[in-house]
Amino acid sequence: MQDPSYEIAVIKGDGIGIDVTNSTLSILQEAEKLVGGFTLTQNHILAGAGYYKETGTDIQPNGEEDAGKADAIFLGAIGLPSIRYENGTEISPHLRLRDRYQLYAGIRPIRAYPNAPQRLADKRAADMDVVILRESTEGLFYSAAVHNRCPVENNDEIQDIMRITRGTTQKLHNFAFSLARKRKNRGKRGLVTCVDKANVFKSQAFFREIFNECATSHSDIEYSYNYVDAMALDLVRKPWEFDVMVMENMFGDILSDLGGGLVGGMGMAACGEIGDHHGLFQPAHGSAPDIMGQDKANPLAAILSGSLMLDYIADKNQNPKLTEAANLIEDTIYDGFSANAIRPMEFGGDMGTKAVTEEIISRMYQLQNVGRG
Ligand code: IPM
Ligand code: MG
Repeated sequence: MQDPSYEIAVIKGDGIGIDVTNSTLSILQEAEKLVGGFTLTQNHILAGAGYYKETGTDIQPNGEEDAGKADAIFLGAIGLPSIRYENGTEISPHLRLRDRYQLYAGIRPIRAYPNAPQRLADKRAADMDVVILRESTEGLFYSAAVHNRCPVENNDEIQDIMRITRGTTQKLHNFAFSLARKRKNRGKRGLVTCVDKANVFKSQAFFREIFNECATSHSDIEYSYNYVDAMALDLVRKPWEFDVMVMENMFGDILSDLGGGLVGGMGMAACGEIGDHHGLFQPAHGSAPDIMGQDKANPLAAILSGSLMLDYIADKNQNPKLTEAANLIEDTIYDGFSANAIRPMEFGGDMGTKAVTEEIISRMYQLQNVGRG
């Protein structure tokens, strides 16, 4: 029987998006060879600021539709500060993809790796392994780019909206509890923390109210609350006490950068954006045009996003081979850091994008006890 095949829509985008996507694709290809039991095909879609500059549109014709037809979407990075829409905002077709495919569940893992910079002096931070679950379609991003719906917008004042809906919030919280359960089965704590500002905003009190309703149907999972400002404090003070933290869009945008910083930098910040029928995977960092094409970018955030993508396709299609491949990639990166064999330039190391990629590939072969042909 032929191996099942899954299509990845690939949007390399701008700047280092191109470098880190190339790196990720080669790792995925090797993982596929080593583990077997599935085939990945690629459908490349042109989009981004560079594409906008050339063509006046931010994604190729039918690009959004084609992305939606794939089993998963992988995106490098989009945007160049100097190229903007007429309204002055940055080129961001990916925000439209989040909206169009209702990718409400933004998974942003924060995991410490040995020998990667540890920003916290407390030794307990060395085992940090938590996830920020960022709602990605509404909240304070609702009026941005896609909806462009400010209730007040004139020469003297502009207002944006914080939109929280019951439907999306229920799905988000249930996703948070399921994610915590999956992690609990892998030896993690099994705790969901609702991060909000319920003491000030009605929309945030509503967010917490729905959290409480959802918690009753997940009695095997512990839960707690934290206000977003206290969460920023606690992420620095005692991140090891948390597991899955669920929050609205803007809070997640901010705290996920803080989280990336805690474990090294944005080059470690992986991201998956998941909806009921689609998933988009991308590093949470930007296109870093200052180092584009110079083989300097840290590809790990992208590679780890690729591994989240494999896990997603595995769950969606009940194919454990892809989980095996995802675990192989993650274990290899952990193992490589432990041996101090992965030394990205982002952390002052001597290894560029290609050297990091090459090291991970040869270690994957070693971990699988397979010689490279
Ligand atoms: C992220 C990024 C994007 C966001 C920007 C580039 C629009 O910061 O993925 O966190 O704010 O969602
Ligand atoms: Mg961000």
